[in-house]
Amino acid sequence: MIFKSKKTMIAPSILSADFSRIGDEVSKLKSAGADIVHCDVMDGHFVPNLTFGAKFIKDLRKTSDLPFDVHLMISEPERYVGDFIKAGANSITFHFEAQNKPEKLLSEIRAANVMCGLAVSPDTPISAIEKYIPMCDIIVVMSVYPGFGGQKFIEKSYEKIKSLKTFIEKNDCDTLIEIDGGVTFENASLIKKCGADILVAGNAVFGADDIAKAVETLRKV
Ligand code: DX5
Ligand code: ZN
Repeated sequence: MIFKSKKTMIAPSILSADFSRIGDEVSKLKSAGADIVHCDVMDGHFVPNLTFGAKFIKDLRKTSDLPFDVHLMISEPERYVGDFIKAGANSITFHFEAQNKPEKLLSEIRAANVMCGLAVSPDTPISAIEKYIPMCDIIVVMSVYPGFGGQKFIEKSYEKIKSLKTFIEKNDCDTLIEIDGGVTFENASLIKKCGADILVAGNAVFGADDIAKAVETLRKV
């Protein structure tokens, strides 16, 4: 399944969901109007936190037919990508900081009919990944240091989104821009104006009393 839309897509991050009722939390996202389920995989090595692996994704797959966007914050992503493909991921992004020769892995993911992409941490400039952008369906611009939900949006990310957008337009690439970290009802509008196609939102969605209203607000502002 390839996801693409002219409107901004909203991707709640299940990192902020209640893991004791994770099946319900994911299954209600569709009726809440979400477009994508963002799944944060952390290994306690590339980032100082641990979450879940491919089996978790495989089991959750049964609870929703929304696209699953798997964000790998792990060292040696090449060791695990095959498992996440088998688990039913619709897109897989891995960090440029974890694999700086990404061509092979990107094409491996694409060959499996799964959207592929690179994620870039706040201190990695867009110029470092430019030559790989045409090979990517998605670029994840991290607007917080990866590892935890509920952090504050790093302001310099606006400029990064704009420069990525300029590169994509100039080079006629078919690449979506995804913003991950610290997205709020207050900054969503400016993030969109800078050129984001997908907004990841953990705390803003799962921290809200009314998830559907939170998704709608992020979409509308
Ligand atoms: C951070 C994760 C994000 C995070 C977003 O390492 O990649 O997806 O869960 O959560 P919020 O929206 O709360 O910053
Ligand atoms: Zn993420």
